[in-house]
Amino acid sequence: MLNRVISAAALVILSAGILISQPRETKIILNVDQSRDTISRHIYGQFSEHLGHGIYGGIWVGTESSIPNTRGIRNDVVAALKRIKIPNLRWPGGCFADEYHWMDGIGPREKRPRMVNTHWGGVVEDNSFGTHEFMDLCDQLGTEPYICGNLGSGSVEEMSKWVEYLTLDGESPMAKLRAQNGREKPWKVRFWGVGNENWGCGGSMTASFYSDQFRRYATYCRNYGSNKLVRIAGGPYGGDTQWMETLMKNIPLNLLGGVSLHNYTLPRNWSDKGSATSFDEEEYFTTVEKALKMDDILVQQSRVMDIYDPAKKVGLMVDEWGNWYDVEPGTNPGFLYQQNTLRDALTAALNLNIFNNHCDRVKMANIAQTINVLQSLILTDGSKMVLTPTFFVYEMYTVHHDAAMIPLKFQSSSYELKGRAIPAVHASASKDAQGRLHMTLVNLHASKAQSVRCEIRGASYRTGSGTIISGASLQSHNTVETPAAVSTSAFSGFRIDENVLTIDLPAKSVVMVELK
Ligand code: AHR
Repeated sequence: MLNRVISAAALVILSAGILISQPRETKIILNVDQSRDTISRHIYGQFSEHLGHGIYGGIWVGTESSIPNTRGIRNDVVAALKRIKIPNLRWPGGCFADEYHWMDGIGPREKRPRMVNTHWGGVVEDNSFGTHEFMDLCDQLGTEPYICGNLGSGSVEEMSKWVEYLTLDGESPMAKLRAQNGREKPWKVRFWGVGNENWGCGGSMTASFYSDQFRRYATYCRNYGSNKLVRIAGGPYGGDTQWMETLMKNIPLNLLGGVSLHNYTLPRNWSDKGSATSFDEEEYFTTVEKALKMDDILVQQSRVMDIYDPAKKVGLMVDEWGNWYDVEPGTNPGFLYQQNTLRDALTAALNLNIFNNHCDRVKMANIAQTINVLQSLILTDGSKMVLTPTFFVYEMYTVHHDAAMIPLKFQSSSYELKGRAIPAVHASASKDAQGRLHMTLVNLHASKAQSVRCEIRGASYRTGSGTIISGASLQSHNTVETPAAVSTSAFSGFRIDENVLTIDLPAKSVVMVELK
């Protein structure tokens, strides 16, 4: 269970594993001396698919573009992503991955085939962004590639050769082809997806058929030299524990580095998702209520994984998550372009806290998607670029990368609306290599400040500093004209007295407190 209760007094509601108390004050106990698990930086991973302007326009503008670029890749986007120390980037999909034939994307660009992106908008895919361009992007970002291979419509040979092309050092047909295409040295690629959503767009398979296919494909995704693959199976959606159970039962653990999990938050439903910017408090409340379900889902899926992998060697990779709304009016429905408000910052913070607190099993997470698609960190408009509220949460949370997670005991005050209640406050904490403690808190309440009393056990701190993300309204969002409607500023609404930290959390805010 994510948060354990510290007092039985005045408990009224059980929601998402967190007991909610009537008093306005939130109580937290931080057991600094009980930290055991590391928050993998890969929880802060990203995802960019050949979808809408996720790649084309958002990252790749081509070498002839007037937009400043390095070998065709936008300089402004690379500089922004470096600010959040992006640890890994998943590519080329998503659903696109199981239709992608990597050999179409190598060699002279003018000779690459032009085809239709059947899954996303029926637009022309000219394959100008392929393997070499993606690996160049990863080099420019200083990030690890996470490549998803085509199991749905590709072949074992094709996937096996892609691994060889990327990672084999020495003599082989694929290493020779790579050198002919301008890259003598192999790259390092650790994270390898063996298909995507294979219960749906990745081939409409059953779990037992897919797990057999995984065994076959994964066998021929070889480790060449010192390159060791983390083979990641296409896992379940949400709380589908049957899919998870079948995979964990049928796949030998020596082949399995991780199982992916996808879960999206839709304020309404798949046919009418709701607007990204135009919503009332009730719809906001529902969005948060649904986002909180991530905690239950992780508990359920981890429970199944624990049966077959009690040593927790196999990572739960939440490699697609985020808020999914209706596309912005007038945009291509196949491009999944949506604005991003303070609501998205609050739910991003909530999800990242949940992942941090489950870091014993969650080894990677990738928000969908980095640029111009779904819950983006960056929106571009021609040569212009906007950093979204979600971006600032990722920047704030860099303090948790590879830090030691500090277990929290937690009793949250409640946020009540029309007879429904959810916890108002959510938090996670970690200790970094320099011994600094970082706690990130989100006050989900739309209009009420929350006071938090935090008892620190097992360490003492004398000084602190803080930062906050908020905006005028839940609907506040950044545009080219108003780029900082939601952004980060200094926060001083806390006191540290002996081992008690008290924080006044403004309504609808994300706060980070650092103690030294
Ligand atoms: O992120 C958009 C799409 O959502 C991905 O392509 C797919 O994997 C999921 O259904």
